[in-house]
Amino acid sequence: FAQDASVGEQEFRKCKACHMIQDDAGTDIVKGGKTGPNLYGVVGRAAGSQEGFNYSDALIALGEAGEVWTEEDLAAYITDPNAFVQEKTGDDSLKTKMTFKMRKNQADVVAFLAANSPD
Ligand code: HEM
Repeated sequence: FAQDASVGEQEFRKCKACHMIQDDAGTDIVKGGKTGPNLYGVVGRAAGSQEGFNYSDALIALGEAGEVWTEEDLAAYITDPNAFVQEKTGDDSLKTKMTFKMRKNQADVVAFLAANSPD
């Protein structure tokens, strides 16, 4: 799918109420809230594994199911977090703590996350 990280950087404004992007040296790439986990390096990271963040049972179960975030899965997750987790785990009772749903430009935001995920 078409992706534009510069559009994604603008769209990330919708995320930063709850998420920061802070590198391993502690430098803020995007200053943001702490309601959600730091999204630096999220592409290629196991779901529910950001050190020190208090995840829901849903995100823990997703990680235990073997989910490692790909760009495609991130786009699906931010479109409908509960639906994504329920489908991947097969457990319809799981609910994430992320209530936000992104209905457009998902791939652009994901491209921006990928640009902030070193190999
Ligand atoms: C979790 C992305 C907007 C609150 C996550 C995760 C991702 C993500 C990838 C899982 C991270 C992991 O497994 O470590 C995004 C993006 C957003 C966005 C790209 C904007 C498009 C928001 C907003 C809020 C929020 C606006 C708050 C109103 C949370 C919370 C979690 C979470 C609380 C933890 C979920 C849980 O433990 O169940 N987000 N998010 N997010 N996000 Fe967001």
